[in-house]
Amino acid sequence: MELTYRPRRLRRTEPVRTLTRETVLNVGDLIYPMFVTEGANVRAPIDSMPGQFRFSVDELVRECETVYGLGICGVNLFGYSEEKDERATMAYAQDGLIQRAVRALKAALPDLCVQTDVALDPYTTHGHDGLLIDGEVANDESVEVLCRMALSHAEAGVDWVTPSDMMDGRIGAIRVALDDHGFSNVGIMAYSAKYASCFYGPFRGALKSAPVKARGVPEDKKTYQMDPANIREAMREIALDIEEGADVVMVKPALPYLDVIASARQSFETPIAAYNVSGEYGMVLAAAERGWVEKKRAMVETLTSIKRAGADMILTYFAVEMARLLRETT
Ligand code: PBG
Repeated sequence: MELTYRPRRLRRTEPVRTLTRETVLNVGDLIYPMFVTEGANVRAPIDSMPGQFRFSVDELVRECETVYGLGICGVNLFGYSEEKDERATMAYAQDGLIQRAVRALKAALPDLCVQTDVALDPYTTHGHDGLLIDGEVANDESVEVLCRMALSHAEAGVDWVTPSDMMDGRIGAIRVALDDHGFSNVGIMAYSAKYASCFYGPFRGALKSAPVKARGVPEDKKTYQMDPANIREAMREIALDIEEGADVVMVKPALPYLDVIASARQSFETPIAAYNVSGEYGMVLAAAERGWVEKKRAMVETLTSIKRAGADMILTYFAVEMARLLRETT
């Protein structure tokens, strides 16, 4: 047999593999999702997410100095609120936890891209991302509250608000609200194709935000988060969010939806973010703990696959560890 082309020639040595590598992960691709809690000097480990913590505002600032020092350009903040009510009042309180966290961070690290989650679930007694009216998550009433929440973050100085609630029309409404109040520089990273996924379990543990089991409370988020079986619908959702003014669109989770990321990359020019969620993080950690996979290699392979699929930026709990590894190896 006369072989003319031998693909193995380009795999012979590490330098040759480096020269022909198609996808290279950079620290600049990473966004670190972080949890904020009340108090001072608090750095509380999260049981359901080993290696992750709830930080009080002062500790958050300290940690972000390290994070930014490693070259990570963005952090995405979630509030851990014990004060929950039917109307999610603490979600938009001027002096609420996230609002204070943003002020402190922007004062200490003005160039760090500070992003905030916009959704009501950490602040409602029932754990849904919107308001519950007559047993249903009410769309338009929720959008009004989400706009107030986004505005309160903008007033605190946030760079990007990141609505994760999946209500219809919220991107356009938030864009208008921001612009009307003089916040045209505040960006929107829209969770556009967010699926009703089992992989959010550890996160809901971290925020005590799982939908409560009670009469009149829908037990899951399937009436607003997407059916995992659908990809055409994801393209429609992304197109809508772009029309409504999203600066960045997101696919979430990442690993079970790499095809959605790839398809979005083909169809749209808008920057794409992918969220390597808590359950995906947990799978790697759990398998590594059992000695079934090597943690660092699983981390690199996972994050590289998400970038290869077409993501411009990746929200990941591995951000700090990955940034450290990149620093050691490059
Ligand atoms: C809620 C929200 C969730 C996540 C981000 N924002 C959970 C949910 O929708 O129930 C999940 C993040 C993760 O699992 O890492 N608005």
